[in-house]
Amino acid sequence: LDNGLARTPPMGFNDWNAFGCNVSEQLIKQTADFFVSSGLKAAGYQYVNIDDCWMTHTRDPQTGRLVPDPVKFPDGISGTADYVHSLGLKLGIYEDAGTATCAGYPGSLGHETVDAQTFADWGVDYLKYDNCNNAGSTTQQQYITRYTTMRDALAATGRPIVYSLCEWGVNQPWTWGADVGNLWRTTGDISDNWNSLKSIIEQNLPLYPDAKPGAFNDPDMLEVGNGGMTDTEYRTHFAIWSMLSAPLLIGTDLRKASAATMAILTNKNLIAVDQDPLAKQAVPISDSDGHVVLAKPLSNGDMAVALYNENDVAARIGTTAAAAGLTKAPAYTELDLWQNTTTETAGTISAVVPAHGTVVYRIAKAGATWSASPPATDLGIDLP
Ligand code: GLA
Repeated sequence: LDNGLARTPPMGFNDWNAFGCNVSEQLIKQTADFFVSSGLKAAGYQYVNIDDCWMTHTRDPQTGRLVPDPVKFPDGISGTADYVHSLGLKLGIYEDAGTATCAGYPGSLGHETVDAQTFADWGVDYLKYDNCNNAGSTTQQQYITRYTTMRDALAATGRPIVYSLCEWGVNQPWTWGADVGNLWRTTGDISDNWNSLKSIIEQNLPLYPDAKPGAFNDPDMLEVGNGGMTDTEYRTHFAIWSMLSAPLLIGTDLRKASAATMAILTNKNLIAVDQDPLAKQAVPISDSDGHVVLAKPLSNGDMAVALYNENDVAARIGTTAAAAGLTKAPAYTELDLWQNTTTETAGTISAVVPAHGTVVYRIAKAGATWSASPPATDLGIDLP
């Protein structure tokens, strides 16, 4: 969506994956505090987003406005937004294009103007707009109309609000989403297990032509740190999201995050790939029996190349600089984005990749200087 926002994929937090309906002002404020104290803000994470269940079951009878749950949000959304803003961060909220949210709270259908204005008045910076209880909306055109109504209502407020479409890919939003929203969910809800992750990756790989600045495929929020996958699988999750130019919305309880979780979430090499201003989604250049190679062109002429092993046994996966789309050069430098080490290659790009693992290289012509701020420190992660 050409509203000047999300020129690179949004980075932040959303409570849903770790907390479900147990959202609160306290959680949002503590998460915002943690963004600052842990270095996540410095690493680029900006949006602290509230998901479903933040409101009461009825609108204000006088004004028709949505009412924040006074127990969960004693200072309301606006008080919470003020706090988040005071830390130099931004606040996101959740609503639904139908008659009720997925958890059964009042939806925005028929109330788009007042709801958009309410969000703007509260200081909301990001809206995730869901698709439950859609009151018989079945055709693609009906979906587009509903999501466009809220787009226009948000624009009419004059407040910059990132607009995230959440209709789970049911009406091919990658074909129309770029005119309507800044990002669009492409697939069903992620779960914290390998089969879910693997299936979502498979479904998102072909969608590379449709991502660009201001308009991104959204394979859903991160499960990194939630305990249902190995650290190798979580590294695949984060690496592939970065290659896909996906939003990086942390979905774990940061107050309890382990050092390994934080090392994944703050990997500056991968964040630089995700946030590259060219904002292209990686192209799957080969896929043989679950050995997948992805190439993502970067704004300084480098190429990020991911070697992803879907299978249950370690394997050597490889490609060449030419196949990855790099221009011919006598030699290349490859920076391993997890190990943070560089090697030289004449053109072969290859590694032994653990089961369910992903090795990512940033490849430049030998002698080129890195312009995308590689990290100063070794994050100390050892791939087997
Ligand atoms: C849907 C969305 C989820 C979450 C829940 C909240 O399932 O896809 O991401 O927002 O609703 O009820």
